[in-house]
Amino acid sequence: MDSGLAQRLREGTRSLHRQTEGAGVMPALLRGTLPAAGFHRMQRNLQALYAALEPALQQWAEHPALAPLRQPALARAAVLAADLNALHGPDWASALPLMPTAQVYAERLQHLARDAPALLAAHSYVRYLGDLSGGQALGRVVRQAYGLVGSAGSSFFDFGPPEQVKAMAAQFRAALDALPLDAAQQQAQVDEARWAFGQHERLFEELAASL
Ligand code: HEM
Repeated sequence: MDSGLAQRLREGTRSLHRQTEGAGVMPALLRGTLPAAGFHRMQRNLQALYAALEPALQQWAEHPALAPLRQPALARAAVLAADLNALHGPDWASALPLMPTAQVYAERLQHLARDAPALLAAHSYVRYLGDLSGGQALGRVVRQAYGLVGSAGSSFFDFGPPEQVKAMAAQFRAALDALPLDAAQQQAQVDEARWAFGQHERLFEELAASL
């Protein structure tokens, strides 16, 4: 039986997801033992990814492979910038290092925005469905570990109450399945998502080495 794109993406990235969970700063972050500086650096680098991804998605808002995935409440670049302001201060962009892998990742997103915008769907999947899934548990650990109260510094993890988060994830999966992509185009999305997971793994390792 033919499975939909959501299922293909999940199966195609499952082993890489597991690998990424164990890479670099991730295990300590999950245990709540990563020094706050490491968390700030991670959020700074993730901000750079969203700051590349979201203008590209905006630019291609009407693209048939992207429009169905659009949920304005998913946008994270501005939310993360506000968190970094609260966590580190207004000079976060210059004071917290941008890792080489995050730069390569941002360049890839800019390249896709010019030459292959449909593949931005894979990047939306990797980030937003991740944020709506494991990101929720991570948010609880992070708030506790760094004593974050209210939304200051942790609004990145906040998409509303659990039932809303579930509904957003379900809508995103349904939209993935409805994208007008043939088998080869679906495979290209899986390949792109796999590349994105690999970059995350490298990024988390670079961050660990930087501390
Ligand atoms: C310690 C870190 C992480 C934990 C504990 C974690 C945990 C989880 C969990 C529990 C799910 C739900 C699986 C399901 O619904 O069957 C999930 C899904 C997902 N995670 Fe993570 N995750 C982590 C890191 C990441 C990272 C870094 C990314 C992105 C690079 C990511 C991307 C995703 C995606 C895209 C999904 C959706 C899978 C699907 O249903 O297709 N996760 N994660």
